[in-house]
Amino acid sequence: MVKGKKILLGVTGSIAAYKSLLLLRLLIKAGAEVKVIMTKSALNFVSPLTFSTLSKNKVLIDLFDNDSWANHVMLGRWADVMIIAPASCNTIAKMSNGLCDNLLLAVYLSSSCPVLVSPAMDEDMWHHVATQKNIEALKLNQNIILPVNNGELASGLVGEGRMAEPEEIFNFLNQFFSDQLILKGKKALVTAGPTYEALDPVRFIGNHSSGKMGVAIAEELTNKGAEVQLVLGPSGIEVGKLIQTTRVTSANEMYEECLKDFSSYDIIVMAAAVADYTPEIKSGEKIKKQEKEFLLKLVKTKDILSKAGEMKSEQQTLVGFALETNNEKQNALDKLSKKNADLIILNSLNDPGAGFSHNTNKITIFDKNGKEYKFPIKSKKEVAKDIVNTIILYRNE
Ligand code: CTP
Repeated sequence: MVKGKKILLGVTGSIAAYKSLLLLRLLIKAGAEVKVIMTKSALNFVSPLTFSTLSKNKVLIDLFDNDSWANHVMLGRWADVMIIAPASCNTIAKMSNGLCDNLLLAVYLSSSCPVLVSPAMDEDMWHHVATQKNIEALKLNQNIILPVNNGELASGLVGEGRMAEPEEIFNFLNQFFSDQLILKGKKALVTAGPTYEALDPVRFIGNHSSGKMGVAIAEELTNKGAEVQLVLGPSGIEVGKLIQTTRVTSANEMYEECLKDFSSYDIIVMAAAVADYTPEIKSGEKIKKQEKEFLLKLVKTKDILSKAGEMKSEQQTLVGFALETNNEKQNALDKLSKKNADLIILNSLNDPGAGFSHNTNKITIFDKNGKEYKFPIKSKKEVAKDIVNTIILYRNE
């Protein structure tokens, strides 16, 4: 699977740098094209000559040579994947904060390809709250963090923080490319987050949706190679740079945005918690306090999922959500047929850890052929994997 792939291998200052030589050898033997970027401190551990001999490419170290400028933007665009192994504590901290004081960081910041990070450090450094915060920030920006191993460390201590073995990274890359191929060339539309329906310039009717589930689905579709358009309601959630995101506020804006280029999408996942009603009149000025009561007239919004169900072709897979509190299965099945979706994802507010405000969810998926897939409670990222895998399964049937 790595055969013919263009790989940027970043090597930073860690005793584990010797393992990158073995990784490089595995990649070259399997037919990958690899360019190596080293930081200055990596030079203390391994020689660039070994990397350049094995990769048959000049090793890149400086942003500026005496007579040339290393084009970091082109390097980032050239690669199918960038892997930083070993990634030292210092480089991880710089990456998560957007620092750019060497070539490796400049390439990282300008890369448009997926980035894999294989950390290497002592156990205490690995567990330090600052490092873990940096790791979380990298994950949030869609970097893929490879697990560290437990074992003997450079300090002589035994614990967590060892860089993954070259064979493990090699296998991971193979799996990564084979997963990526599955949705390559496919386009997906995902809606996420709440909608806000304005009453006047300062007030709105909204809901507690965080957008986490929809964004996790958009990320997972991207990981599998799809080109994703995310239509995101007002949510503070950060979205990785690989996902094309359009931010909207109201149900009507979301409707309009989803119908643009609708026929170009292969997969459509409607995870947004769209308002069912909107104020009939949106006051141009702040509404003044009334004497006693204040009556508000609401009118129905357009149902985006239903409209998508009317418009969809045989080749398009339409997925909806059903958040229910009672008679869950029947309500979900009714939505599946009424809105002409291919799959409906049920989450019940009766399940602890499911729904809006959690980082976890518990879902059951029903398809229109009568199949039912039940999943235990998992993190929203893992749930997104189950959803995308079920979509792929359904499309391949
Ligand atoms: N949905 C939509 N447009 C709307 C309302 C809902 O696209 N105006 C989509 C949601 O994104 C979700 C599905 O429809 O995928 C079901 O949403 P839900 O609110 O559970 O269902 P409703 O049809 O609104 O029914 P009810 O509120 O009565 O349960």
